[in-house]
Amino acid sequence: MLPSKDLEIYGIRKIRSGKVRDLFSWKNELWMVTSDRLSAFDYILPDEIPAKGIILNQIALGWFEKTSLICPNALLSEELPEGVELPEWEARLMRVLPCDPLPVEFIVRGYLVGGGWKQYVEKGIVGDYSIPKNLAYGSPLPEPLFTPTTKAREGHDQPLDEKTAKNILGDNYERLKTLALNLYLHGKNYALKKGLILLDTKFEFGIRDGKIYLIDELITPDSSRFWLSEEFERDKTACAHYDKQIVRDYLEKIGWNKQPPIPRLSQQIIKEMQQRYKEVLSRLFPERLKKVTALID
Ligand SMILES: Nc1ncnc2c1ncn2[C@@H]1O[C@H](COP(=O)(O)OP(=O)(O)O)[C@@H](O)[C@H]1O
Ligand SMILES: [Mg+2]
Repeated sequence: MLPSKDLEIYGIRKIRSGKVRDLFSWKNELWMVTSDRLSAFDYILPDEIPAKGIILNQIALGWFEKTSLICPNALLSEELPEGVELPEWEARLMRVLPCDPLPVEFIVRGYLVGGGWKQYVEKGIVGDYSIPKNLAYGSPLPEPLFTPTTKAREGHDQPLDEKTAKNILGDNYERLKTLALNLYLHGKNYALKKGLILLDTKFEFGIRDGKIYLIDELITPDSSRFWLSEEFERDKTACAHYDKQIVRDYLEKIGWNKQPPIPRLSQQIIKEMQQRYKEVLSRLFPERLKKVTALID
């Protein structure tokens, strides 16, 4: 994102790039800079969504503030240290405590959509859980379900049954499960007040000095599914997604076989996505949108 010589002046070192975030070290801190990249089906797409990184980072920051009493998080600051001038990173930066990330995606599902719906239709279950019969698409589940997967460095994440998840997470399993469910419920209730249905989401946790921290991004349209409450009230079988699902649907519609070459997106879907991500920020954290509006438009 920036020439390395500029960064070295400040003692900032590039560590690596994730699919969406670029990681740097500075003193004892880890810096995450959210890019405009977009990944789908485990591939980084050739097109970027302008300002998506700013929108995502602002949403995640808003949630870290809101949830810090439920679970400690790794966030240290969203500001550059004094004397460091990197305007390109404005609104995209999170300075965090480096943790050892747990190799699990802590997925919580509150509604029957996506992969959960597919499993329900095929086998009458979601993850390890049996679900009442005859529920319609988009129905709220009787209670939110914890359906963890592996977090694969390469390739696809695999669902984890309870026994395997317990083997990986050891003594922390119950605590992490409870944290994930509590964070989802808190997020769902807050989103509902703001006119959004939080259908499902994914958390990541890390360990540092034996303590659990919430890390990475938090309840964003990249890591969650959102519908608008007013559309949900009207007809829950016909809601537009305000999240990354619109790109997955687009890529499936054009018949991509999910192997390289990775297709380009249409200008229309790029615009649509930017608008919908912006709508989520606008509903959840309007004061944050106001602060970054000049950088987005
Ligand atoms: N506090 C933290 N300490 C260590 N690693 C972190 C922390 N927060 C996030 N990470 C890691 O940084 C990366 C963020 O970049 P991202 O583009 O989201 O990667 P990915 O391709 O794995 O989704 C992830 O691999 C995540 O596990
Ligand atoms: Mg990620």
